[in-house]
Amino acid sequence: MKEKSNKIGIFDSGVGGLSVLKQFIKYLPFESYVYLGDTARVPYGNKSAETIKRYAKECTNFLLEKDVKLVVVACHTVSSVALEEVEKISTVPVVGMIKPATKSAIISSRNKKIGVIGTRATITSGAYQNSLSQGSISTKVEVYSKDCPLFVPLVEEGFISHPATRIIAEEYLKEFRTLEIDTLILGCTHYPLLSKVFAEILPEVELIDSGEQAAIFSLRLLAENNMLNEERDEFPQIPDVEFYLTDLTLNFREIAKTFLGFEIEKLEIVKL
Ligand code: DGL
Repeated sequence: MKEKSNKIGIFDSGVGGLSVLKQFIKYLPFESYVYLGDTARVPYGNKSAETIKRYAKECTNFLLEKDVKLVVVACHTVSSVALEEVEKISTVPVVGMIKPATKSAIISSRNKKIGVIGTRATITSGAYQNSLSQGSISTKVEVYSKDCPLFVPLVEEGFISHPATRIIAEEYLKEFRTLEIDTLILGCTHYPLLSKVFAEILPEVELIDSGEQAAIFSLRLLAENNMLNEERDEFPQIPDVEFYLTDLTLNFREIAKTFLGFEIEKLEIVKL
C-alpha cells in the first residue's frame, strides 16, 4: 500500500516530458516527483513498436523501484504504442497522454472536426484517432491526423519563434485550414512550446495540451482515491523533483530550462 507522501513518477524518452512535468507542478504543486528521461536512446518517435515497448518497460520498472504512487507516461509515443505493456507491469495506477486529451477535445469541439499532430510512431499507431472515435459514440467525430517529425529537433535547437519553424509549421498545418477543424490536439511533448506559432497559423482553433489534461486527470484521480499529498501552509519555492537521465546530453541543461522555466541543479545518470 502506497502512502500519500510517495512521489509521482514521470518518464519520457528525453527532455520533452519536462513540458508535462511543468503542468503537474502547476496543478499539483504539493506533490514530490521523480522524473526519468531516457536521453541515451531518444528519440523514440521513429522507432519500431517492439523497441518502444521494451524501453517503456525498463523506464516503468525504474520508477516502480523508486516506490512511486503513480506512473505518468509523459511520452506520447510510448502512450500511443506501449501503454498496455506499462499497465500490465505496473503495481500502481498509470496515466498516459491520450485519454485525458481526447476527452477534453471532444468536449471542446463544436463542429466535431478534430486534428491531431504527433511523431511518426504516434500517428501511425492510430491511438489518438481510435480514442477519439471510441470516446464519442453518440456523435460522429471527424479526425484528421498529421505526423510532424521536424518539430522535435526544431524545439531542441531552441527555434521556438524562428522563421524556419514558422515556414515548416505552415507546411504541416495548412491542410487543417481547408479541413476546417476547430480543435487540435498537441500529441507530442515538444509541441506545447510551439503553441504561439500554431495559434498564429490556426487562429480560430482550440489547442489541447495533452500534458495539461493529464495533470488535471491525475489531480482528480488522486483526490478520488484520497492519495493527494498533504497541502503545506506555504507553496514550495523550488519544486520537489528528483531528476534521472540515461545520458547527460550536451545541451540538456539549456533545453531543460526552456521546457521547465527553471534550472535543474542536481541530476543523476542511471543505467536502465
Ligand atoms: N517525447 C516524444 C513524444 O512525445 C517526442 C520525442 C521522441 O521522439 O522521443 O512523442
